[in-house]
Amino acid sequence: MSRLTLLYPLTILIVVSFYVAPIAQIFSQSNSKKIALGKKLFNSDNLSCNACHSIDGQRFVGASMKGLYGSIIPLTDGSNVKADIEFIKESILEPSKKIRAEYPPVMPIYYKNKISPQELEAIVQYIISLK
Ligand code: HEC
Repeated sequence: MSRLTLLYPLTILIVVSFYVAPIAQIFSQSNSKKIALGKKLFNSDNLSCNACHSIDGQRFVGASMKGLYGSIIPLTDGSNVKADIEFIKESILEPSKKIRAEYPPVMPIYYKNKISPQELEAIVQYIISLK
């Protein structure tokens, strides 16, 4: 066999993996990576969610994010809402829509301009992970 016949399939293999690897990487971006990004954003100087929300159950200006996901939140209008993914997203993007009872409506309204959809997803996954 000549060297060329060996090199040919090898070249194809390299070229194919060059294109396939990054695509596969995007699809397999694991949840733990999202959670890690969410944690970083939550504690970042830019967003500083951690200034008002603890993750260990302590009440700061806002409620703790510990165990938030799936819990029932009483609102100022007397109704209750389940803290599902939709509620968490809405609370971050439009915090004045539903106000939690016994908490001041002081959450900043600018997050919708600061957080990309991917970042929002990461923050939500981080909050869900805080059991
Ligand atoms: C200045 C303080 C402050 C900052 C900063 C802040 N929040 Fe809040 N947040 C609050 C308060 C107070 C409430 C409860 C009142 C309300 O419903 O608006 C709240 C409500 C929420 C809720 C709804 C659930 C609940 O316990 O009421 C979520 C989810 C949330 N915040 C997430 C975040 C995330 C994520 C960030 C950062 C991107 C953030 N907050 C930044 C004060 C803050």
